[in-house]
Amino acid sequence: MDQRNGTLTTFFIIVGISDLPALQFPIFLLVLFIYFITLGGNIAILLLICLDRNLHTPMYFFLGNLSILDISCLTVTTHKVLLTFVSGDKTISLTVCLAQIYVFISLTCDELVILTAMSYDRYVAVCNPLRYNVIMNQGMCALLTTVCWIWGFLICLETFIELTRLTCFRSNKINHFYCDIVPLMKISCNDTSFLEMYILFMGNLVVAAIPFLLTFISYVFIIVSIMKIRTNIGRRKAFYTCSSHLTVVILLYTTLIYQYLRPVSVDTLELNKFFSLFNTVAMPILNPLIYSLKNKDVKSAFRKLRCGMQTKDKRCTRQN
Ligand SMILES: *[C@@H]1O[C@H](CO)[C@@H](O)[C@H](O)[C@H]1NC(C)=O
Repeated sequence: MDQRNGTLTTFFIIVGISDLPALQFPIFLLVLFIYFITLGGNIAILLLICLDRNLHTPMYFFLGNLSILDISCLTVTTHKVLLTFVSGDKTISLTVCLAQIYVFISLTCDELVILTAMSYDRYVAVCNPLRYNVIMNQGMCALLTTVCWIWGFLICLETFIELTRLTCFRSNKINHFYCDIVPLMKISCNDTSFLEMYILFMGNLVVAAIPFLLTFISYVFIIVSIMKIRTNIGRRKAFYTCSSHLTVVILLYTTLIYQYLRPVSVDTLELNKFFSLFNTVAMPILNPLIYSLKNKDVKSAFRKLRCGMQTKDKRCTRQN
């Protein structure tokens, strides 16, 4: 390990998912495969939402925004793995590294806030269905999504500023497949205790706990309201409108809790890498998958789109 004196370290080496030479090609193929599947899935969702007028509702506008977030997140985290294999260049400058961290954590915050906005949308849909169109009007949707996008970048600004104060590094090897906060702090020889406390406080309380609480409260109201429905069919129908969103929320918070709700000091980097891999690479494919597998609207939009291309198919005309 080379002992370097602070300001001299302006370049880091991204170790990657594994540094075993024999694994480089399989890893490259796997990441490339997942990247294109996820890209394809999210672009398909975006196209469906654009093309089908039945999907021009708040829920799908939020879902569309979520897809854009997913694509951006995945690109930020995996592009280095892919580029490294092609160019062989594992280095990254401190500036790019910090920018990458900032964009990534901001997008992750945005994702939580958009999911919270979606739970409010579901709450209105179930608990106040008659006034749904009045409450979730275009202005409200635009306001909510704008706040969602800005919020993450604002709330993560202080973390970013604190990170720029790291000047001294024990090593220039980042044991991760992208620049992440924890591996960067691990190799820093500056005093990171404030940063650790700040991230623990902000990350857990402000960024995760508040959206979690709001989502939780929405679902308490939703469940109470569903229980009051007399008929079985009505109950099932009401639950059905939320099931896709609820699935995504549960999966996302479960992985986030595993990944971040641990103090930095007891964190093993290999474990962190594993959870990151699931969270950043596997999660983005889950949104389109869950929404298209479980959702009648999306399925019928897809069918219509396919049928639009082959208008002579008799099954199509019957189904529409
Ligand atoms: C994102 O949300 C805004 C506001 O609701 C909406 O107008 C826009 O179409 C959404 N974007 C996508 C790609 O769905």
